[in-house]
Amino acid sequence: MCAFHRNTNGHMLVDSKPLAEIADRFGTPLYVYSGNGIRDSFNRFKSAVSQVPGKVYFALKANSALGVIALLARNGSGADIVSGGELERALMAGIAPADIVFSGVGKSRNEIAQALSTGIGQINAESPAELDSISSIANELSVIAPVALRVNVDVDPDTHVKISTGQRSTKFGISNNKHEVANLYRRLHDDPNFAPAGLAVHIGSQIQSLAPFEKAYRALLNLGQSLRGEGMPVPTLDLGGGVGVSYDDGSTTDFTDYGALVQRIFKGKGFKLGFEPGRAIVANNGVLLSEVIFVKHGDNKRFIIVDAAMNDLLRPTLYEAHHNIEPLNDLGPATGFADIVGPICETGDYLGKQRKMPDLNTGDRIAVMSAGAYGAVMASSYNTRPPAGEVLVLNSEVHVLRHKRSVKSLLDEESIPNF
Ligand code: LLP
Repeated sequence: MCAFHRNTNGHMLVDSKPLAEIADRFGTPLYVYSGNGIRDSFNRFKSAVSQVPGKVYFALKANSALGVIALLARNGSGADIVSGGELERALMAGIAPADIVFSGVGKSRNEIAQALSTGIGQINAESPAELDSISSIANELSVIAPVALRVNVDVDPDTHVKISTGQRSTKFGISNNKHEVANLYRRLHDDPNFAPAGLAVHIGSQIQSLAPFEKAYRALLNLGQSLRGEGMPVPTLDLGGGVGVSYDDGSTTDFTDYGALVQRIFKGKGFKLGFEPGRAIVANNGVLLSEVIFVKHGDNKRFIIVDAAMNDLLRPTLYEAHHNIEPLNDLGPATGFADIVGPICETGDYLGKQRKMPDLNTGDRIAVMSAGAYGAVMASSYNTRPPAGEVLVLNSEVHVLRHKRSVKSLLDEESIPNF
């Protein structure tokens, strides 16, 4: 099952809406999300883990459009955030402060103060220095900080190196040494500025098998039980995100096996669990629409030059990530290989390489598939290209989530000094 599909006439649709119609109306490049798809993925994730007491906190970093967060909030999602900016987004989209978890290795004093003043549900701390900072700010504000410790369980998630966070060599978490964790947790317990919230883990993203999760979760359970054995309350175990999706066929992710694993490890153990899925909720529920500007026949290659570029979707350039690329209308069978590239002045600016493509011409449109996660959120204005707009289709109605920014708005942020 896919949120995006082709009808018998060969037109790509989201729900029953032709994507070409949306491109006509709003122009390209444009992100299009399926509201039903997002809601359905979230609800299926929630129900897959419903056999254990817990809460799902959508990781805003994957897609932080206010409209997407609001849709998830209405379906009972909390938010996993990593900055003061994401905190503001979560609150504005209607998520209660108590349903927000603040992750990240480098929270500034301002961000910690902002989080504590709004009554945030949980801060996942990653270093002794961070505990010092949170304690002193909580003391100044006369509030009690609900803090969990993020542990680095030293598990290889077997994913792209730039999105692996579970090994000892990375900057994340507190090293998985029983004494060190116990000492720091004891500090949470003894310092009156803290309310110990538990332990957290996040080993990486786009994880394709259950084995790394199993290792990490068992290590976390072990630590949690041993802290309890020392008489300290450990209410929550936060399991992070990382569940991978299929970029090959864009199919809906099946969470059943993941849910069964969680149940096998944690059922009846008396911990409240936290889940922070990002990609799995949105990746295959979004596409990036783009229009062909020129087709160029190089010496031994066909280049399809389109109006979306690495500033709109960085994943192929940054991670060599594969996204399927589909013409919006059926243009017949492939006529050969082509690189699909943007207008930016870098050889690294491509959306797909060596793809079997039909004959495409100026004005034809394509969809870059599986672009709902880590797409629009990672956009930039490189080459003074205003990042693409975003729309959400919900029950066949199209809602604008964000207008394409304008060159004027980019230039308005700047000033020329009076030399
Ligand atoms: N929780 C924490 C603490 C995280 O750092 C992340 C992702 C998540 C949850 C959500 O992980 P997910 O369920 O989405 O895998 N830009 C990269 C992905 C970076 C992920 C960073 N952390 C990409 O485009 O593949």
